Amino acid sequence: MDKNRVLVFDTTLRDGEQCPGASLGVPEKVAIAHQLARLNVDIIEAGFPVSSEAQFNATKIIANEVKGPVIAALARCVDLDIDKAAEALKGAEKPRIHTFVATSKIHLEKKFRKSEDEVLQMAIAGVKRAKSYFDDIEFSPEDSSRTGKEFLFRIIEAAIKSGATTINVPDTVGYSNPDEFGALIREIFNTVPNIDKAIISVHCHNDLGLAVANTLAGIRNGAGQAELTINGIGERAGNASLEEVVMSLKTRAGYYNKTVNINTREIINTSRMVSTLMGIPVQPNKAIVGANAFAHESGIHQDAMIKDASTYEIMTPKEVGLDASKIVLGRHSGRHGLKQRLTELGYQLSQDELNHIYDRFLEIADKKKEVFDEDLMALVGDENADDKDAYRLEYFHILSGNKAIPTATIVLNYQDKSIQEASVGDGPIDAAFKAIDRIIQVPLKLTEYSLRGVTGGKDAIGEVLVRVANNGNKFLGRGASTDIIEASIRAYLNAVNKSLQIQNKESQSNSTKAEL
Ligand code: KIV
Ligand code: ZN
Repeated sequence: MDKNRVLVFDTTLRDGEQCPGASLGVPEKVAIAHQLARLNVDIIEAGFPVSSEAQFNATKIIANEVKGPVIAALARCVDLDIDKAAEALKGAEKPRIHTFVATSKIHLEKKFRKSEDEVLQMAIAGVKRAKSYFDDIEFSPEDSSRTGKEFLFRIIEAAIKSGATTINVPDTVGYSNPDEFGALIREIFNTVPNIDKAIISVHCHNDLGLAVANTLAGIRNGAGQAELTINGIGERAGNASLEEVVMSLKTRAGYYNKTVNINTREIINTSRMVSTLMGIPVQPNKAIVGANAFAHESGIHQDAMIKDASTYEIMTPKEVGLDASKIVLGRHSGRHGLKQRLTELGYQLSQDELNHIYDRFLEIADKKKEVFDEDLMALVGDENADDKDAYRLEYFHILSGNKAIPTATIVLNYQDKSIQEASVGDGPIDAAFKAIDRIIQVPLKLTEYSLRGVTGGKDAIGEVLVRVANNGNKFLGRGASTDIIEASIRAYLNAVNKSLQIQNKESQSNSTKAEL
């Protein structure tokens, strides 16, 4: 490999998904993985297969379907983890097992109660077992930046000797700073005798807001791979943001003298997809992908921009795929045109999903003159279209006013039967949710509700996100409509249907176990 090339390892679907509140279903993960392939990342970390059935299934489907990037799966240095990761990766064109064990004194004493030698043996055994399945093996000494150097160098050397081809150096708790982290990477190169047989990777968390700076310092000091997430999402304060690292390397190419193979024009689509499907909005002033990243407010700036954009823009909006928002389709657009535009935006839909979205699109196009990309993205995924047992909204009627008791009548369709209920509530949305609760008769707890206008104007689509808790699990629901009460009902139903799907699966597997 060209020594100036930096491999982009995307961990949005693994570390990113550990972000509080960001739980993705299998279809959403697969959609994001396809989009990451369009972005042209080098490696997709698809999940942590041993951790749940959903993680295993998502990794397996991604390994089977997504071609181009290496597909990686995470595993502790534990036999069961490694075997599960290997099984999930069986169908991958280019599989990689990423195995890790904590190495810092704090973790060894407080988490494991193991000695350095015991952990060293775990690392050797883990890498060797992973190597018995595939050639491409990554090893991470977790909490590297707080690990004693002598032990860190020893375990890296042993992991390479056992077959690791990539050594990842995580700043697991975001404790390091750029000078220190860059020096650590340099020292690894200068000290570990067999380091020329592996690529060094950097994996930085953002607890002190330094994840991108630390990653770039690692790259300046020779790291050949960077582990990143879209929108910088991830455990606690998140991981280093892919778009920020990539655009830094590109915009300051003369300074870094490194190349990446990313199709930067897919950055905005990917960012929006991840934000929408995870239900985590991007802050407006976020670098590269925030709504204000290319907005110029002051008169002096606007005047200069008209004369020459380079006065106040160091990269063009076009480079990151931010062309002016397009009116894509109207009332007379056909199913084919809708499908094509959604595919361009990164969505791959089943025929049932497409049919549902098309019906919704026609309703929206009737109410709104202009349908934007953002409107389409808000519509995708609020329908549970592939779920035959989903409750669907047939009809709602709301009575509300400053002197009236808010009352909702809801008719849902369930397995081709209409079910009607009514309820009063503190407001029209509360009344509607209570009427739905009466129909489904499952004790759900609403833990979060938010509403945003998707595009500008009085006829903008409102997108509602809700989170509901059922039996300790949390479910995200999204709903979109030009009517905010309808959007709220759709979001609630979306979450309800997801939670019932899991509940049905669990009771099916319990009854199978009981029969055995
Ligand atoms: O932050 C971390 O240390 C990790 C490892 C599993 C690589 O995510
Ligand atoms: Zn991490």
